[in-house]
Amino acid sequence: MTLCGMFFLLACTTSPAPVERGDSSAPLDLPAHSECFELGHVMDEETCLAVVEDDGRYPTVSENKSGLEPDWDDPRIDDPELEWLRSQIQRCTCSCCHTRPWGGPGVYFYDLTWEPVWIDSASSWSLRVLKGDTHDDTQTLPTTDRARLDAIIDSELDRRRNAD
Ligand code: HEC
Repeated sequence: MTLCGMFFLLACTTSPAPVERGDSSAPLDLPAHSECFELGHVMDEETCLAVVEDDGRYPTVSENKSGLEPDWDDPRIDDPELEWLRSQIQRCTCSCCHTRPWGGPGVYFYDLTWEPVWIDSASSWSLRVLKGDTHDDTQTLPTTDRARLDAIIDSELDRRRNAD
């Protein structure tokens, strides 16, 4: 059975990379670090807790790293483009380690549940890493629409730059 089949999901859009693990006693059916399901499917909490435990790194804290004051009337709260970007992350193993409420540990550098606007939890540098500008393959988001992802992140970086 494929990794994707084991999680009762239809198919993977990327082929699974080999799972690296430090502890040979860990269960062998965890999704790989950069594995993604089809759009519309999300990594579930139980799987993610096992991923985080297997990874074994200590979490950081969630905070606003946008450099701008949060605003509960922010029009970005209902922005479908930001929601699309979040759903792109949530269909991948990435979400396991970047979702704060999941078991306490499980948030590093940005938090998909940060409010009022989740993307504010990522520094501008982290957003460039996510987009692939730094060519760090393990932290570049696999996406079904590269141009759309680029436009969303560029627009957020512009917003931050032009704010003062
Ligand atoms: C097993 C846990 C885990 C998974 C899975 C994971 N990350 Fe992370 N991520 C981390 C940790 C820990 C850090 C902070 C330390 C570091 O940079 O390695 C981090 C940091 C980041 C950063 C910020 C880098 C910076 O220098 O500011 C980005 C962007 C990122 N991850 C994207 C991703 C993407 C995209 C995926 C999926 C392809 C992913 N992560 C999957 C644990 C994870």
